[in-house]
Amino acid sequence: MTPILELDQIEVRFGGLKAVDEVSLSVREGEIFSVIGPNGAGKTTLFNAVAAFVPLAGGKVSFHGGRIDGLPQHRIVALGVARTWQNVRIFPAFTVLQNIMSGRIVRTTTGLFASVLNSKVARREEREAEQRARELIRFVGLDGRESVVARHLAYGEQKAVEIARALATEPALVLLDEPAAGLNASETERLMALVRRIRDTGRTVLLIEHDMRMVMGISERIAVLDHGRKIAEGTPSQVKADRAVIASYLGEEEPDAAPAG
Ligand SMILES: Nc1ncnc2c1ncn2[C@@H]1O[C@H](COP(=O)(O)OP(=O)(O)OP(=O)(O)O)[C@@H](O)[C@H]1O
Ligand SMILES: [Mg+2]
Repeated sequence: MTPILELDQIEVRFGGLKAVDEVSLSVREGEIFSVIGPNGAGKTTLFNAVAAFVPLAGGKVSFHGGRIDGLPQHRIVALGVARTWQNVRIFPAFTVLQNIMSGRIVRTTTGLFASVLNSKVARREEREAEQRARELIRFVGLDGRESVVARHLAYGEQKAVEIARALATEPALVLLDEPAAGLNASETERLMALVRRIRDTGRTVLLIEHDMRMVMGISERIAVLDHGRKIAEGTPSQVKADRAVIASYLGEEEPDAAPAG
């Protein structure tokens, strides 16, 4: 089967620094694939390379078998790749509903909020966008919060808005950059269930996360980056047992790690 996302020896440089150093990855359709590694390992840069926020210095990125490196960001979103940010980026003065509807803009022909032009198509598309946004509000557990201005939301709720906005672009592949950061234990439990539901609705999830309980609990496969290089890849139990991974990363966290099994 063709992988949904394939990275072939990709490289990203910042001056003399190889932030991503010849990384190859193959993500299968319908899996939850995690990328872990110490701070500065190149995880976010890898996402940025896939989503065209930084240029590649080398290598290829393919989505559904077709090259996407070199395409502009909006084309990649339109093809079905959506992302969230390590530090929440939503419109603070927009309501929850407006924020989520803004994700839908890539799926409209007229542009959102264009109904002022009084075109029939624009009004129908805006109605559809609103209906879909309301479904997503329920899907991410923000029922009853649709009219709240985003800056008044709790941090965990803002993260849920960002995930819903990403889903509003109707992606086949969702890139989540540390969604559990800043969440408490019960919020993280709910997030894990949400990520599984995202996968169960037919999407593929590529996840960056430091929360090892979450990573080990929901990932089919995991790749480990260190200093820009991929040092290991495998199932959670394979990665947990990998000497290089323990030395570079898991070793520091072992006392907190979830019990094996
Ligand atoms: N725009 C940039 N310009 C210059 N250097 C950058 C830029 N973005 C990232 N870097 C550097 O590239 C390396 C990888 O950073 P990156 O943010 O990808 O790491 P990360 O694995 O996501 O870390 P964290 O777990 O802390 O989020 C770091 O050394 C970082 O300082
Ligand atoms: Mg990062």
